[in-house]
Amino acid sequence: MSIELCVLAPHVPSIIYEEETPDYQKDMVQAMKNVGEEIERMNPDGIVIVSCHWQTTFFHYVNCTPVHKGNLSAHEIPHMIRAVPYHFPGDSELGGKLVEEGEKAGIDVIAIEDSDFVWDYGTLVPLRYLAPSAKIPVVNMPVVLTASLEETYKWGKAIKKVLKESDKRYVFIASGALSHSLVRGRHHMPTTSEHALDKEFVKLVLKRDYESCYKMLPEYGPWAKVESGGRHLAMLLAMIDDDAVPSYLGDGQSSGSWNAVITFADKDYSHLKTTINIDL
Ligand SMILES: [Fe+2]
Repeated sequence: MSIELCVLAPHVPSIIYEEETPDYQKDMVQAMKNVGEEIERMNPDGIVIVSCHWQTTFFHYVNCTPVHKGNLSAHEIPHMIRAVPYHFPGDSELGGKLVEEGEKAGIDVIAIEDSDFVWDYGTLVPLRYLAPSAKIPVVNMPVVLTASLEETYKWGKAIKKVLKESDKRYVFIASGALSHSLVRGRHHMPTTSEHALDKEFVKLVLKRDYESCYKMLPEYGPWAKVESGGRHLAMLLAMIDDDAVPSYLGDGQSSGSWNAVITFADKDYSHLKTTINIDL
């Protein structure tokens, strides 16, 4: 039936617990909470999420596990994200359809069903805010390091076809940052040059010039060290309709990266906006 909403969502580890969020990241958390309330009201049939922190080398995977349950201690930052419990329903049927469509498109996609598989924090952090009831079925997937932006975009189009042709209602989440040239010190902003590219990308988004957003990725990616080389953005841009309404709702820095909450839908969600920190 439809993709009700697409979201670009941050997952910076310091927001794992809302009460421990630094001041300069509170706006992005509030924006995600606002969107989460909207998603809960919307009550979609499922959420498909791609995470920059589930990075695979060769294969696209679709996590078709019927129940996602575990405790996440993040290898990258184990003192901050330590034994965080999660329990979400999965959707094996949807996952199977995505794999089938990917294969039809000539993409190396593999289904996994593994109750021992532990989520990454790029999947868990945004879902704690965007699906707080933990009742909406989730299908999660990685970014693939040997997949080009073009291949990732093509995979995104295959996913979109399945979601659009279904008689159900879905939300798609791309979990990742914009510029991502990391430095020590969580309060640091991106450099002026990196942030200039963020601003250009956001301006194009707000003009709904999604084609130029995609065309910008091959240079924006390496020059601003966009997270996962911009693969999550390629998948997001594949997913949204040409006339989708963008709403830039919250943002903030984290260790030199820039993180934004942006929704794309057939309607404006700017009433969910928090203080915007980017200076366009
Ligand atoms: Fe990240």
